[in-house]
Amino acid sequence: MPLVNTKEMFEKAYNGGYAIGAFNVNNMEIVQGITEACAEENAPVILQVSKGARAYANHNYLVKLVEAAIVCNPDLPIALHLDHGPDFETCKACIDGGFSSVMIDASSKPFEENIEITKKVVEYAHAHGVTVEAELGTLAGVEDDVQVSAEDSSYTRPEEVEEFVAKTGCDSLAIAIGTSHGAYKFKPEQCTRNEKGILVPPPLRLDILDEVAKKLPGFPIVLHGSSSVPQDYVKMINDNGGKMPDAVGVPEDQLREAARRAVCKINIDSDLRLAMTGTIRQFYNEHPDKFDPREYLKPARANIKELVRHKLINVLGCNGKA
Ligand code: G3H
Ligand code: 13P
Ligand code: ZN
Repeated sequence: MPLVNTKEMFEKAYNGGYAIGAFNVNNMEIVQGITEACAEENAPVILQVSKGARAYANHNYLVKLVEAAIVCNPDLPIALHLDHGPDFETCKACIDGGFSSVMIDASSKPFEENIEITKKVVEYAHAHGVTVEAELGTLAGVEDDVQVSAEDSSYTRPEEVEEFVAKTGCDSLAIAIGTSHGAYKFKPEQCTRNEKGILVPPPLRLDILDEVAKKLPGFPIVLHGSSSVPQDYVKMINDNGGKMPDAVGVPEDQLREAARRAVCKINIDSDLRLAMTGTIRQFYNEHPDKFDPREYLKPARANIKELVRHKLINVLGCNGKA
């Protein structure tokens, strides 16, 4: 089947009480790991590309890799989505260049300006059959070249969402309820420690999610910054020459709960990076004589695949929904 936009995916996800996984792609092995897991688990998927990914791999390479994934998995619904589109021009380039969905992220701008930019993208995108995600509220963490401190982050204000969606016509809305980009989502002082000494972050503000859902019945909500930072991979990195102290993510059971409510899209990138980096570090350590990239990329791809399978079944609940 050709590339799909997110409309039908989100309708089914909302009504079914699950979320679609949106995984960031930067190279062939990541695309393969994700789509092989989704095909085996019969799960619709969003492959998303950031500004940084376009700069790293080149727009055309990424589109062609996704086209290859479609050829290899003809029955799998796949959307190709621009992650954190910074401006109208980038969104237009992706719409013209074959994407089926875009995010315009003007969340750092004043409310009225965010509406104005988002509306312009929606008009262009809808004329081309492309769906649009927008954002209200500010997540902490790092995304592309923007770093937002915990102090400067702010939860989405439920009283603003109706007006925003009505005026912009966007198809989904990313909200800030306590998730955060990157592998260091919470400062140790924000967390408590469990009996194993592992940091436990503050809970997500599901009350804000529910308030938003009450204002926008049936409307798909998106969560960014939703990696859980698996401690096994953090350990694998640290045991093999890495240094990632106090890396901590969002507990998976809280994401599963959000997916049962109005959240239809959950963004995961950092967890894939941890799996890839941990696997490659371990391989180097165990095989200092090897130098063929295929030998370390193969287990890295296999571990990405198993991680995605785990997310589909245990976090998103979208296995068997394709
Ligand atoms: O939210 C940001 C995503 O994790 C993409 O990260 O800008 O380093 O590609 P990136
Ligand atoms: P993580 O850094 O938690 O993986 O978030 C990814 C994301 O939100 C991409 O837009
Ligand atoms: Zn994001």
